[in-house]
Amino acid sequence: MEKTKNVENLEAYYTRRANEYEDIYKRPDRQKDLLSLESILRSLFRDRHVLEIACGTGYWTQYIAKSASTIVATDISKEVLNLAKSKNYQSCSVTFQETDAYSLEKVGDNFSAGFCGFWWSHVPITRRTEFLKIFHSKLNPGALVVMIDNNYVEGSSTPVSRKDEEGNTYQVRKLKDGTRYEVLKNFPEESNLHNFFEKVGENIQINNLTYYWLLQYNLKKFP
Ligand SMILES: C[S@@+](CC[C@H](N)C(=O)[O-])C[C@H]1O[C@@H](n2cnc3c(N)ncnc32)[C@H](O)[C@@H]1O
Repeated sequence: MEKTKNVENLEAYYTRRANEYEDIYKRPDRQKDLLSLESILRSLFRDRHVLEIACGTGYWTQYIAKSASTIVATDISKEVLNLAKSKNYQSCSVTFQETDAYSLEKVGDNFSAGFCGFWWSHVPITRRTEFLKIFHSKLNPGALVVMIDNNYVEGSSTPVSRKDEEGNTYQVRKLKDGTRYEVLKNFPEESNLHNFFEKVGENIQINNLTYYWLLQYNLKKFP
């Protein structure tokens, strides 16, 4: 059996997973929740200029593109971005940028909305403030911020394999070729999200579905 690789660099794991990534969105039990998310995102991002962090294969970009004016979709992995670029975004102006979420180098500013799909759970607890500072610096005061991510569902989610001294949790994930990776994946409670984001946002709303949560807030005008 192949040894488990420790993913200090998430990029390596997602690059290797790129071609099988969207299988996660085909699970029959998750279809109802996924349809709800698609429809909520479509209505939230109407006519917005959106900055998307860690867009991956563009799965959510394609739904946001149904109503947004423009999207700048970013990710650190060239392989996932190539898949994202092959999708059809109809009349929405979508551009892609290969950049690290912790620097967002060469990304412009003045966006009226920001989106992170399944990214917050991969941000180590000690890097949360650092990430938000750079992300928020690209958005207009009052901009809409939306995050979606996984709830931990016993019997359905990959089990948590360990917790580190900072409180981050991990999963051991297996790719189709049998390679195993240990991936940092946090499952924050609703109260934890609330307490954290009330420092930077107002009008905080959390929509808790069965498999996923959706957080939305407006960036404080005077932080
Ligand atoms: C769970 S996937 C989410 C993809 C997409 N947002 C979705 O929901 O389908 C996490 C993504 O984070 C990207 N990633 C990993 N480290 C990153 C970093 N430091 N900066 C930007 N993106 C990163 C990976 O390449 C991968 O596409």
